[in-house]
Formats: sequence, structure tokens, C-alpha cells
Amino acid sequence: MIGELNQLRTDALEQLAHIWDDGALEAWRVKFLGRNGLLSTTLSKLGTLPKEERPAAGKLANEVKQALESAYEQKIGAIKQRALSESLEAAPLDVTLPGRPIQRGRLHPATANLRELYRIWGDMGFQVFRSREVESDEMNFQLLNIPPHHPARDNWSTFYVAHTNQRVLLRTHTSPGQIRAMRELGRNGTVPLRVVLPGMCYRYEQISARYEIQFNQLEGLAIGRNITFADLKGTLTEFARRMYGDRPVRFYGDHFPFTEPSAQMDVQCIICDGAGCGICKYTGYLEILGAGMVHPHVLRNGGYDPNEWSGFAFGMGTERIAMLKHRIEDIRYFWGNDLRFLEQF
Ligand code: DAH
Repeated sequence: MIGELNQLRTDALEQLAHIWDDGALEAWRVKFLGRNGLLSTTLSKLGTLPKEERPAAGKLANEVKQALESAYEQKIGAIKQRALSESLEAAPLDVTLPGRPIQRGRLHPATANLRELYRIWGDMGFQVFRSREVESDEMNFQLLNIPPHHPARDNWSTFYVAHTNQRVLLRTHTSPGQIRAMRELGRNGTVPLRVVLPGMCYRYEQISARYEIQFNQLEGLAIGRNITFADLKGTLTEFARRMYGDRPVRFYGDHFPFTEPSAQMDVQCIICDGAGCGICKYTGYLEILGAGMVHPHVLRNGGYDPNEWSGFAFGMGTERIAMLKHRIEDIRYFWGNDLRFLEQF
């Protein structure tokens, strides 16, 4: 009897381990725990045992019964659990879960800055003219009054395109766009122009916190019949007022081969309001742009007769402008693609 009960328990648990559906589980229950099941049948034989053996057999029978019942209960839970995970795997969409947050893009700070410049210059009547980044030596230098071997070329360390005998290069400034704008929009030098020319420029520089090998410039060009240096000063002063608010600007003489006379414009330091600080190197002013009256040779190269027409031009490095505005200390952040930097704008 003892052996029979032990065998019964072993068989029942062994069979239960392989059962994973409700039908088989019910059959198992009927077979072992049912009213006419194996356990009952075995128990019914208790009475036939000699008296001394009955207590031990009865106790074991109870243990076996409890063991089978609790295994049965556990199995019900296990089958439910397995069914749930199978259905989740088969259709892993749970519409009650919160959605993934959408990654929102934003404008690159250099782009946002350029757009603000377009807006200001657009309001002042200047249209955007886009010119090419790969230029000829002729456009980038010669037509701007910088002949081959001219010492002024040292100001623009140049990337040349291979196998072109240094005749093709990456523009070192946006100024060659002046020639293209005059030729393409000027109708053979018969109409006035007001354009700004944005875009990437390239220089063969040692990269540092202040110098990059690529950077954006914004060039400006105004051509008309009676444009004077007073127009240059007035227009650029108004630009600075719109860009930086009411703060003093100052002009002083400079030299560029494509303008005569040439000037540089400073605006009062936006960090220290002129008191002097590390950013303005204790001068109270920040250099913003170069400018000048378009040189007669350049006017003529663009198709305008310098006896009838005059104009002014200017050029600024726009990352520098953004750096001052946002107190960015290192120009390398702009093209470093570090989201920790970009996400701040
Ligand atoms: N092209 C000059 C540079 O890259 C900037 C500049 C100066 C542009 C004076 C101008 C100008 O149009 O008139 O440094």
C-alpha cells in the first residue's frame, strides 16, 4: 500500500509536468483526483489493511492527496501565465502602453542665425542671392582685384581642387558672388542691385577655438547711381541696431583689394556694454564686419560703368556673430555634431 501510494504520487506528478492545456489538465484531475480516480481507488483499499498498518498508510495517503491538489492548483496558474506570454509574443502591440516620445528636430544654430540675418536684410530691401561654393581662381581673386601672386592672397589660405592647376578652388569668401550677382542680375550694368549672399566658405587654416576650415559668411552688395560712403555707414548702422539693439558702432579704416575706401565696423561689446571684458579684449568693442565702396575695377568686372554707378559692399562671418550673441566660446562646436551643444538652441 505504501509503495503503491508513492508510485501513484510519482506517476501523477511526472504526467502533470508535461501538461500545458486545460483539457489535458482536466483529464489528469479526473484520472488521479476524481471521485473514481486512482487515489480514491487506492484509498478504498485502506480498510482491507491490517490495523497496525492503517495509520501510516492513512497519513501517507493524505500527504499524497495534498501534494497532488497543490500541484494541480499551481499548474492552473502556470498554464494561464504561459498563455498570456504566448499571446503577447504573438501580438506584441499593447495599445494601452504610452507612446514613444517623438524626437523633435530643430534648426542648427548657424542656420537659425542666418535666417535672422535674411529677415533683417530682407526688411531693409536686400534679396538673397546664392552663389557657388566651388569657384574659379578668376572669380575668387582676379576679378576682385587680386591678381596672381598678389601679397593680399596671404589673407585667404586656399583649398584648391586637385588636377586643376590651382585654377579651381573652394571659395575663401563670399565676395566672388558679387561678380556673379552683378552679371546675373545686373542686366549688363543697367539696374540697381541690393543683395545679400550667404554661404559656406573654406580656408586652409589651423583649426582652433577661433578658426575653422569652414564657416558661413554673409556678403552684401548695393549698387546704384548715387551711392556714397554715407549710405554704407547709415545702412550698416541700421543693421547693427536691428541685430544688436541701440548701442554705439564705430568705423575705422581698413584695406581690402575689392573696395576703396575700405572700413571695418565694430559694435559696442554686447557682453560688457563697453566697460571692457575678456571677450572684447578690454576694448569695449567687437569687430563685426568688413566693408567698403566697391572698387571701380570690380564694378567694371560685374558689367557696371564706374563713371555712372557706385556701390558699397560688406562681408561678415556669421558663426562669429552667433558666438557673440550666445557667448559660444569655441567655433569648433558648430560642426562637431555634438547633440549636447546643438540641443541648447
Ligand atoms: N571678403 C572679406 C573677407 O573674407 C570680407 C569683406 C570685406 C567683404 C570687405 C566685403 C568687403 O564685401 O567690402 O575677409
